[in-house]
Amino acid sequence: MVTTARTEQKMVTGSINGAEITVPAGTFILEAARLNGIEIPNLCYQPLLRPWGSCRICTVQILGKRGGLIESCTTPLTEGMEVLTHSPEVIQARQYILQMYLIDHALDCPTCDKSGECYLQDNTYLHNINANPYRRPKLAQSYQHFSETIDYKWDRCIMCNRCTRVCDEMVGVIAIESANRGLEATITPAFGMDLSDTTCTNCGMCIAVCPVGALTDRHFGHHPWELDTTETICGHCDVGCTLNVETNRSLVRRVTHLWERGVNHGYTCEKGKWGWEQVQHPDRLLYPRVRDGNGVYETGWTEAIDQAAESLAHFQGGTFAALASPDTTNEEAYQLQLFTRAVMGSNNIDRLLTPAQRAVGAAVQASLGRDVANTNNLQELFTDVKAALIVGPDLGKTEPVASYWFYHSKIYRESKIIVISQDDYPLCHRGELWLKPNPGTTPT
Ligand code: SF4
Ligand code: SF4
Ligand code: SF4
Ligand code: FES
Repeated sequence: MVTTARTEQKMVTGSINGAEITVPAGTFILEAARLNGIEIPNLCYQPLLRPWGSCRICTVQILGKRGGLIESCTTPLTEGMEVLTHSPEVIQARQYILQMYLIDHALDCPTCDKSGECYLQDNTYLHNINANPYRRPKLAQSYQHFSETIDYKWDRCIMCNRCTRVCDEMVGVIAIESANRGLEATITPAFGMDLSDTTCTNCGMCIAVCPVGALTDRHFGHHPWELDTTETICGHCDVGCTLNVETNRSLVRRVTHLWERGVNHGYTCEKGKWGWEQVQHPDRLLYPRVRDGNGVYETGWTEAIDQAAESLAHFQGGTFAALASPDTTNEEAYQLQLFTRAVMGSNNIDRLLTPAQRAVGAAVQASLGRDVANTNNLQELFTDVKAALIVGPDLGKTEPVASYWFYHSKIYRESKIIVISQDDYPLCHRGELWLKPNPGTTPT
């Protein structure tokens, strides 16, 4: 687990529920507890985002003369601190907070997509809130269609601002924001516009981080417990994010996030979130096709493989060449090179570049006069980079999750970022310097 605290090398030792715990100074109590297998309930905390401290469900008790109840997601563990995460005082405080949330909450769990994986539902159950002394008529509202893919339901929103923070801190676009105060408080597309008219990248991260059913996927209509899950790697770009594909009746129903897993730590982009639709696209070929003098027709797998083998038999050795599509996975590329070398006896194999890769290569060649291969791994970008020179087209489109880590490094390591790009995108404005080359001219 990577903590959000800007940790220093100095270590501190405190105790949580009587167990001695040593963590880097600056680690928040909630994260120190998680590192040691103790879960503290939370609603506004989201791994890798700045601590917010608004929901107070993560309240814990600090023992001692200057102790008391305090939010664990914004309070660092200090030397000698003694913390209780589930004392009677803590449980009572959490119950009281939950009752406050439930006064105006829609509580329409039977028709809510989030039912079964909702933090508020789970905590209401865990804290045994079976009655609420604070009651008044509900201020119900219907769904607002933020975009083609995203719905917002105000009376389920707990104003934790996870959605606005992820959009700002990770995706870097600030397409949604919070507006108004008190009972009028709401989440809205930036400047009250239609979400599709904002800088929204349709990454779906706001849906992913929403702990309740306030932001939902408009096209999803299943209960989470009806779905089978398969962990996989996204093949849409070089980042290789870990994704969770959820299916039922042999059809993909949605792609979700495995927090703190893979190079992406659960964060994804539009392609990872919605790109699965091609899997069951009506135009997708389901059977092999053969072209002959009479046109193209469908055939069986055995016939197609026999026919391919017969045709390829005439091109052994140097007369054979293979070109891999830019969308091939490492495993497919490995199989193709094995087939080319071992079966066809040829070393003529190459991989096509995506338009984005070609553009990056050309930009680096033009700027630095040399070819540059990406030798960083994503983890280095995430944990080590303190200065970055980013050359080429909009990184938020070509390798979106890599761009998230640059925003993250800016916030947590104050890294220095220089962008050389024709494209005007958010990182250009958050970095130290943006150089926009003038095509057809020579730098002086
Ligand atoms: S889909 Fe992504 S870019 Fe659009 S509002 Fe949500 S988090 Fe922001
Ligand atoms: S929409 Fe969801 S993530 Fe955003 S503030 Fe409301 S509850 Fe939190
Ligand atoms: S950045 Fe997006 S497209 Fe690339 S691997 Fe991750 S989810 Fe897939
Ligand atoms: S999780 Fe700590 S205040 Fe919300």
